[in-house]
Amino acid sequence: MAETRCFCKFQTFAVFCAVLALSTSNVVASVRVAAKGGVDLPGLHAQASVLPSSASLDGGDGLGYWLSTEVSPKWLLAKCFSVAKTNITASVYKFSDKSIYEALQSAVDMNPELGVTLIVNDETLDHDGKEWLEHLNKSDRADIKLWKDIKDSGFDKLHAKFVICDDFVVLGSANWSENSCSGSNMEISVAGTSAFAARELEAAFQKLWANEHASSL
Ligand SMILES: *[C@@H]1O[C@H](CO)[C@@H](O)[C@H](O)[C@H]1NC(C)=O
Ligand SMILES: *[C@@H]1O[C@H](CO)[C@@H](O)[C@H](O)[C@H]1NC(C)=O
Ligand SMILES: *[C@@H]1O[C@H](CO)[C@@H](O)[C@H](O)[C@H]1NC(C)=O
Repeated sequence: MAETRCFCKFQTFAVFCAVLALSTSNVVASVRVAAKGGVDLPGLHAQASVLPSSASLDGGDGLGYWLSTEVSPKWLLAKCFSVAKTNITASVYKFSDKSIYEALQSAVDMNPELGVTLIVNDETLDHDGKEWLEHLNKSDRADIKLWKDIKDSGFDKLHAKFVICDDFVVLGSANWSENSCSGSNMEISVAGTSAFAARELEAAFQKLWANEHASSL
C-alpha cells in the first residue's frame, strides 16, 4: 500500500510500522533484527518501506490501514463483532466505552453459536467495566481473564490491542474507550479479512492467555 510506505517514512511512527508489520513474517523478522540492535529506528523504517502490499499477503484477501480521521476505531470494532459467527477473541487495555460493550453483548445475545474469549487489563477497569465483564461472564459462552500486576515480574500492562472475529481482525492503537473512539485521539487501525493475520494473532493470544499475568475474573 503506497500510503503505508509513505506513513512509515516518519520515524515517530516507526513503532506503528512494527505493528503494521505483524502481518508479514519477513518484516517481523526485520523488526526483531532491529530490536536486537537496541531498536534501530532508521533501520526499522528502511525495512518497513519494503512492506509488500497487503493484497499479496495470503492469496488476495488483505488488510486496510486507517487513521481515526478516515474510519472510527469504534466502527471497525462494531463491524468485527457483527461479522463473527463462531468466535470473538480480544486482548484489551482500556475497556470503558459503553457502546462497545453493548455491541459486544448484542453480538453474543443475537448469535447462539458465538463464543467470546477476552483478556482485559485489570488496573484500567472501572466499576462499569467490571460490571460489563461480569454480565458477559454470565453467558456460558464467554471466557474472560484479567491481566494483573505481578510485583517485579515486568509486562505489567497489557498494551497489546487486537480483536479476532473468525477471519476478520482489528488491531491498532485504539483502546475500547471514549477518548480513543470519539475523535479526541488520533489512532491507527489495521483491519480486514485475513486468515493469515487471524492465525498469527490467535497464536499470540494463546501466549497471553497462558501468561502468569492472566488470571480468572
Ligand atoms: C476462540 O478462539 C480462541 C483463540 O484461538 C480460543 O482460545 C478459544 O477457545 C476459542 N473459543 C471458542 C468458543 O471456540
Ligand atoms: C464467571 O463464570 C464462571 C462460570 O462460567 C464462574 O465460575 C465464575 O465465578 C464467574 N465469575 C464471575 C466474577 O462472575
Ligand atoms: C490507550 O492505551 C494506551 C496504552 O497503549 C494508554 O497509554 C493511553 O493512555 C490509552 N488512552 C486512553 C484514552 O485511554
